[in-house]
Amino acid sequence: MSSGWRSAKKLLVFLTKLLLTVLEAVVFTLLPKPRKSVAGEVVLITGAGSGLGRLLALRFARLGSVLVLWDVNKEGNEETSKMAREAGATRVHAYTCDCGQREEVYRVADQVKKEVGDVSILINNAGIVTGKKFLDCPDELMEKSFDVNFKAHLWTYKAFLPAMIANDHGHLVCISSSAGLIGVNGLADYCASKFAALGFAESVFIETFSQKRKGIKTTIVCPFFIKTGMFEGCTTACPSLLPILDPEYAVGKIVDAVLQEKLYLYMPRFLYFMVFLRSFLPIKMGLLIIDYLGIFHVMDGFTGQRKKQ
Ligand SMILES: NC(=O)c1ccc[n+]([C@@H]2O[C@H](COP(=O)([O-])OP(=O)(O)OC[C@H]3O[C@@H](n4cnc5c(N)ncnc54)[C@H](O)[C@@H]3O)[C@@H](O)[C@H]2O)c1
Repeated sequence: MSSGWRSAKKLLVFLTKLLLTVLEAVVFTLLPKPRKSVAGEVVLITGAGSGLGRLLALRFARLGSVLVLWDVNKEGNEETSKMAREAGATRVHAYTCDCGQREEVYRVADQVKKEVGDVSILINNAGIVTGKKFLDCPDELMEKSFDVNFKAHLWTYKAFLPAMIANDHGHLVCISSSAGLIGVNGLADYCASKFAALGFAESVFIETFSQKRKGIKTTIVCPFFIKTGMFEGCTTACPSLLPILDPEYAVGKIVDAVLQEKLYLYMPRFLYFMVFLRSFLPIKMGLLIIDYLGIFHVMDGFTGQRKKQ
């Protein structure tokens, strides 16, 4: 076969596959994608002691999953564990773990493997925010943001991905943020850690895809502000386009994205448009839009989580 004919054949195969993926995308835009069952799946949620982590635990409890709950806050985590049992979970395992400490993550992960078994859905949700302007932010706090919001994802993947690969079955969920898509003033360390988390999850997704590990799924979640207390005091100047989200609504969307095996979930939908605009608009226009949406001032009233972490 001549090289010209081989190239033409390669192009034809590529165009046919492209057409099929476009058709699939059209079908799933018109019809809801089927939802998978997560009954009996071992779901590990980090940061399960409050906020989104707690609500995720309750949703997966109702869906019949085995729950593994991690949090640095023992009391909050035990409360979630109790609530999950009341919501119908029969197997709930709560572990106190500081996800920002690599050795602690590995130690508790080994304990989980011995006591519960292989984790099949890993939700990296634990997160912190300093909410300080870059030059006012102490080095230790910036390092902590990276340890909890990003590096913890490396260590949990190292601990649980090998079994997912061996079983060709698993789902990796990264709770990033809209601050992982677009830089925001007053959130430099948080944004950097969330960009890193997103880039890491996307890269491992590409790696598993290129290795044809079809059983390993990834979901990357980028929400705008959610009323959990983490961004207490923050406001939106444009609630119609960028509303502060209700936690139950956000968690419903996250669980749906997992069940439908969506790769990306941005909330609210306007974020997809913002990311699209950013890819081609001149920076001066982008800054005007950011100013109009009040994004320069979203952190002005930040007080943050009042409870101890
Ligand atoms: N709330 C929002 O507006 C918002 C927006 C976008 C993304 N997010 C992300 O969603 C995730 C959940 O946030 P939330 O709003 O539920 O906040 P939250 O403060 O209510 O919950 C965070 C949980 O993480 C736990 N945690 C903190 N440090 C930890 C550590 N070192 N090890 C283990 N657990 C630790 C806390 O104890 C807490 O239970 C975070 O990753 C956050 O960055 C939140």
